[in-house]
Amino acid sequence: MNISKITERVTYCGVNDRTTALFEGLWSLRDGVTYNSYIVRGSDACAIIEGSESGHASAYVDHVLDALGGRAPQYLVVNHVEPDHSGALPLLLRLFPDIKFVGNAKTLDMLRGFYGFGDDSLLEIHDGDAISLGDRTLSFILTPMVHWPETMMTFVPEEGVLFSGDAFGCFGALSGAVTDDEMEASRFFPEAYRYYACIVAKYGTFVQKAIQKCAGLDIRYICSTHGPVWHSRVADIVDIYSRMASWTADNGVVIAYGSMYGNTAAMAEELAARLAEAGVKEIRLYDLSHCDMSFVLADVMRFKAVVIASPTYNGCIYPPVETFALALAERGITNRAVGLMGSYTWGGAAVRKLADMFAKTKTTLLDSHAQMKQHRIGEVKGAIATLATQIVDYLG
Ligand code: FEO
Repeated sequence: MNISKITERVTYCGVNDRTTALFEGLWSLRDGVTYNSYIVRGSDACAIIEGSESGHASAYVDHVLDALGGRAPQYLVVNHVEPDHSGALPLLLRLFPDIKFVGNAKTLDMLRGFYGFGDDSLLEIHDGDAISLGDRTLSFILTPMVHWPETMMTFVPEEGVLFSGDAFGCFGALSGAVTDDEMEASRFFPEAYRYYACIVAKYGTFVQKAIQKCAGLDIRYICSTHGPVWHSRVADIVDIYSRMASWTADNGVVIAYGSMYGNTAAMAEELAARLAEAGVKEIRLYDLSHCDMSFVLADVMRFKAVVIASPTYNGCIYPPVETFALALAERGITNRAVGLMGSYTWGGAAVRKLADMFAKTKTTLLDSHAQMKQHRIGEVKGAIATLATQIVDYLG
């Protein structure tokens, strides 16, 4: 399964992972994930593009051997060293002792460090270099920080295939078909938002540079490291990534709160009601103690406004809210309206601390900070209504 011909000379040989619960030990995999790998067959030589994660190395090697059909690969191009793509490389080296792992100087340094590969197994390339496989060519495009410093892409001009590394990837295992033409590919788009939000969002500037760098290529297929091969939906996935990388958003509001005894939750519900009353249709309300944060982050990538509501806890921000707020700040949240609310019993600090945090970001911090003492909800309804009005004005 999953040995699939992509073009005349490119074959998919990746694997599905339906058993890992948390990607990077952090991000939920409700529908699994793929570790994509490919074979490019030239008239004179043959290359594997990307490896796989070590826990799935056995199935992966079976796929590689099937796809090679008895040929020995001369090269293994490592567009990205992160171990979800390189964990199986030592096993491949044992199978093919003469293979050369191809990458830039940073790639090779990481391969030495992670796996102890010797220089006789490594082949350094530079930006713009090419390797001939005979009647097919591997052209290398360095795209650092998409998502690690060594990340690069490989283009096969004769096939119009771009091996894009993590760029244009998504969560979700494949169910039989590999190329988007052969499946209902749009179901992967929300998972592209979630993948980007969790894994790549900090590096949007570099994603934009990579997209610009590839703009002149005649790309007919995008083969990323995770998710379907894009063909008929290339424009869609490039558009999704371009929008996220530039923090472009749709009209809508994410309200993310923490609540111990329902008081901050009541403020969040009140705000959602006022926004709905004002005609806002896209409202996502999340209790951060009970939801999966990866979905909240994905919605922040989609929508123009985010409201964060926190009780004051031990004189600080309530921990699940702080984790979420730090995740946004760490990703360099940009071009969003940020509203703050909070509740306290004897001394409010959470809203002030959140305001300090978001004052350092490239966001529009809305100035109606609704703060409720105990459960005096009647006293803060006016401030919540003002916040709703400010959000609606921002949405335009
Ligand atoms: Fe799928 Fe950054 O590794």
